[in-house]
Amino acid sequence: RILILDFGSQYTQLIARRVREAHVYCEIHPCTVDLDFIKNFSPKGIILSGSPYSVEQEGAPMIDPAVFDLGVPVLGICYGMQLMTHLLGGRVARAQHREFGRAHIRLEENTGIFTPFEAGGLQEVWMSHGDRIEGLPSGFERLAWTDNSPYAAIHDPQRKLYGIQFHCEVVHSPRGAEMLTAFVRGVCGCEGDWTMASFIETSSAAIREQVGQGHVISALSGGVDSSVVSVLIHKAIGDQLTCIFVDNGLLRTGERDRVATVFREYFHIPLRVIDAADLFLDRLKGVTDPEQKRKVIGRTFIEVFDQEAKDIGEVDFLAQGTLYPDVIESISFKGPSATIKSHHNVGGLPERMKLKLVEPVRELFKDEVRELGRELGMPEEMIRRQPFPGPGLAIRCLGEVTAEKLAILRQADTIVLEEIKEAGLYDRVWQSFAVLLPVQSVGVMGDERTYEQAICLRAVESVDGMTADWAHLPYEVLARISSRVINEVKGVNRMVYDISSKPPATIEWE
Ligand code: XMP
Repeated sequence: RILILDFGSQYTQLIARRVREAHVYCEIHPCTVDLDFIKNFSPKGIILSGSPYSVEQEGAPMIDPAVFDLGVPVLGICYGMQLMTHLLGGRVARAQHREFGRAHIRLEENTGIFTPFEAGGLQEVWMSHGDRIEGLPSGFERLAWTDNSPYAAIHDPQRKLYGIQFHCEVVHSPRGAEMLTAFVRGVCGCEGDWTMASFIETSSAAIREQVGQGHVISALSGGVDSSVVSVLIHKAIGDQLTCIFVDNGLLRTGERDRVATVFREYFHIPLRVIDAADLFLDRLKGVTDPEQKRKVIGRTFIEVFDQEAKDIGEVDFLAQGTLYPDVIESISFKGPSATIKSHHNVGGLPERMKLKLVEPVRELFKDEVRELGRELGMPEEMIRRQPFPGPGLAIRCLGEVTAEKLAILRQADTIVLEEIKEAGLYDRVWQSFAVLLPVQSVGVMGDERTYEQAICLRAVESVDGMTADWAHLPYEVLARISSRVINEVKGVNRMVYDISSKPPATIEWE
């Protein structure tokens, strides 16, 4: 396995993804871990990430130079390369021209990370740096250069140390992934046998080992993560798992039945469905503040779930669909970022119920979880489902949530999804949904004046939900959605399209 040391680059996660795509297992750890940790990890190779710092800067993150004497190949990317140079006695200086964006490197040799390439050839890469190497440490040779960087790539063939000035992990370096593959498989000698089939085997064994004779409960939301986790755990321990699905009355049309069918009939996994719609609506009466709504829903969920678990009897573990990006976020060198919205997942449950966590996908990225779902035989429709927030339609029903408003929203939302799917856009956008606005406006229907509600269409493109752009949907699709919603949904006479990006707006309205 490969160890990635994070110095705070925005691209560190991408390095891990590219390594995994080469079917090699890797983990990201902050650069502050000590030498013993690194030795115990026994990596077959180490990758040093980029960083917003400059090596000469006060407070710049360092590592123990003994890392370079472990006999383990090291690849330094951008800051990682400058740090390696700095610690091994080379010279790093501010570049006269900072280099950002596309650049072409000329290769000296097709060796090491450049094995798949032609010597003397040009490669397009993505540069983003203000410092450059001006003097090599002893034992090092130049591997590639650009007009602005005399040392765009360097190596010490004896110690198998590599440094590159550019970011091979981003898509703007078209063949960068091949360089990373050449490093982890070629230079480090990793097998490339990290596949979802092998993951199912090892993680099933780990789940059995952790759980023993204990009982696990899982909170199904219908989303990809909790579904995949539940199917995986059921495969590992069978009836020692109970799945619970809380119908909070804030779900999309047909959601509850879809989940029940897939779990009970398709996988034969016992599922308890709790009808708590009235309770949630009751608790939401008079609540208009978005954060307050989220808190009320979170608390009510815990209460309902807790009660159900008591009925089950002895329970020891709670299954949780924690993903690797959440793990990285909490251990990041930069520290966790500020809370913009209090997300409702199953947080708060484990402490209250004194449960230990089973988190079998905490090492996986979202796309790997989808692949895992496929390998487990889950229906494509479930795997490809667009994200749906825990507080559900409540945060898309602006202002107070009532049964009447939910009915309108649900009907509009169903039309939006039908049309988006019909146009073949469902997989192309990150999310597409309806929002019921807390305004009424004047319209005319036949000869009558109307004064009714407005629905907003929100459709965004995103890779991770952290940033997003509004989707440039074809006018014909917008026209069809608008005409159907206004004609078919009673109480709606106007439809608008949300053309805000995130930031500064967020994807959801509350
Ligand atoms: P925002 O609105 O913050 O949403 O731009 C980013 C992504 O997160 C989803 N979202 C949630 N997911 N629990 C969840 O599991 C929540 O409480 C929650 N709130 C927002 C949102 O749908 C989008 O994909």
